[in-house]
Amino acid sequence: MRLSFAVLIGCAVCMALLAPARAQRTVPDTLAQRALACTTCHGARGRVSAEGYVPRIAGKPAGYLHRQMLAFRDGRRAHEGMARLMAQLTDDYLAELAQHFASLDLPYAVEPDRRARPAATPAALQRGEALVRRGDPALDVPACESCHGSALAGVAPGVPGLLGLPRDYVLAQLGAWRNGTRRASTPDCMARIAQRLSAADVPAVADALAARPVPLRIKPADTPPARWPMDCGSTAP
Ligand code: HEC
Ligand code: HEC
Repeated sequence: MRLSFAVLIGCAVCMALLAPARAQRTVPDTLAQRALACTTCHGARGRVSAEGYVPRIAGKPAGYLHRQMLAFRDGRRAHEGMARLMAQLTDDYLAELAQHFASLDLPYAVEPDRRARPAATPAALQRGEALVRRGDPALDVPACESCHGSALAGVAPGVPGLLGLPRDYVLAQLGAWRNGTRRASTPDCMARIAQRLSAADVPAVADALAARPVPLRIKPADTPPARWPMDCGSTAP
């Protein structure tokens, strides 16, 4: 018993000593391996469809992806599987993974059926579309387009696109911001926006986004708008 314990400790020490040398030699392999582990859920090369729940990660701004991975690891976003996966990984390593997925320029898989027939009533769709394009000054909610870009393709490095996301995923994210289980860098503009929307606005805007046609290629804009309509920690350089 005592002997095997000593062997175990010895092994742990020798592995710790060997680790840096080995890490240096195999970083590219390890990154590719890790990326494969991600694509079992996030779709081939990070390109999941807008059906189901898991969001696509390919081609999203690197800064955004990196922040999200840190948020799962450090408890600012709640998802047990993601948290467990991220728990062992360092900031730098996650930044490399973020770069890897951000650099993938893959076409979107479009499912016209689902987009052509979202569950919402025409009035709700209209309300959702108004929030996307113009916002609601009475609620002090700026247009989604004013930050996510006029094509809703996102703005590098911090703002993700809003097209091609599963409807249920958008609902869950806005819900998480409303109840405080998703927290972005402060000031957390999305938390304020989600909390200012009414309970009926949340599915209306998710349906309006799901009803939009998805272009084959979605590239985040490189230049920020002249003025952000609210301060957001995630848009800071
Ligand atoms: C077991 C399935 C699973 C695996 C494996 C997995 N993810 Fe995820 N991931 C999810 C789910 C589900 C979500 C959405 C969680 C939520 O917020 O509800 C998510 C969310 C994300 C997000 C946030 C996306 C966004 O648009 O905000 C990033 C980034 C991400 N995952 C990166 C990764 C990386 C990198 C790996 C591999 C190291 C990985 N994931 C492996 C299931 C998985
Ligand atoms: C003031 C700027 C701003 C406005 C206006 C805004 N957003 Fe955002 N949004 C952001 C930022 C910044 C993030 C990234 C937050 C983070 O780092 O987690 C974000 C993230 C999101 C996400 C998460 C996407 C994902 O992949 O997980 C959703 C969903 C979203 N916004 C929906 C909306 C909707 C719907 C509207 C309009 C009602 C809207 N946003 C208006 C700045 C904005």
